[in-house]
Amino acid sequence: MTTRSFERLVLRPWQLDDKTLLSTIANNKRIWRNMTNRFPYPYEENDALEWIEFSNTQPQDQRHFAIVVDDVVVGGAGFTRMTDLLTRTAEIGYWLGESCWGRGIATAALTKATVSAFHDFDFVRLQAGVLDWNPGSCRVLEKAGYTLEARLKKQIYKDDAVCDQLIYALLREEHSARD
Ligand SMILES: CC(C)(COP(=O)(O)OP(=O)(O)OC[C@H]1O[C@@H](n2cnc3c(N)ncnc32)[C@H](O)[C@@H]1OP(=O)(O)O)[C@@H](O)C(=O)NCCC(=O)NCCS
Repeated sequence: MTTRSFERLVLRPWQLDDKTLLSTIANNKRIWRNMTNRFPYPYEENDALEWIEFSNTQPQDQRHFAIVVDDVVVGGAGFTRMTDLLTRTAEIGYWLGESCWGRGIATAALTKATVSAFHDFDFVRLQAGVLDWNPGSCRVLEKAGYTLEARLKKQIYKDDAVCDQLIYALLREEHSARD
């Protein structure tokens, strides 16, 4: 288990002032390779500006946070309500600048985002899809209490390769039982 080596982690809304730092830490193919295609590479200042504006003008059924550790933005985390028959489920996600990997930060951020999603909304289920070449993210989800439910074979095409998608989920009652 990774030892926490940070003092204070908060999730807060993205701010225009984050633009330069966001484009610097997000501009990384190793991050892009594990994200949906909405996350660009290269990641330029204009992309950061668009994201910050988007993240602050969305309806109330989604939240997009900057992860801030010791007053420095280190990544992002958020969740979005799914649609139609899946409306009581939210998809949750996160990423971290590479210099901060391996310190337990993503696990702490996911845990906070999970609390926010279940506390502030009526979701009964939170779900994350992980590409099968990303064991670090699987471990983050497991440490935060999520369970592997499914392997969707060859569902993903990313970075010129086909891979499986792993579906992790946490139910509201499972989360309550952990408190
Ligand atoms: C995945 C990511 C969020 C992890 O962030 P992090 O802050 O390093 O994660 P944590 O330190 O909280 O936990 C990582 C865990 O994975 C483990 N891990 C890392 N790489 C691993 C690997 N190749 N195989 C197995 N376990 C691995 C670590 O040992 C740690 O587990 P431990 O605490 O039991 O030792 C970060 O690497 C990242 O942003 N990657 C790119 C974007 C991404 O993948 N986002 C998620 C999309 S689903």
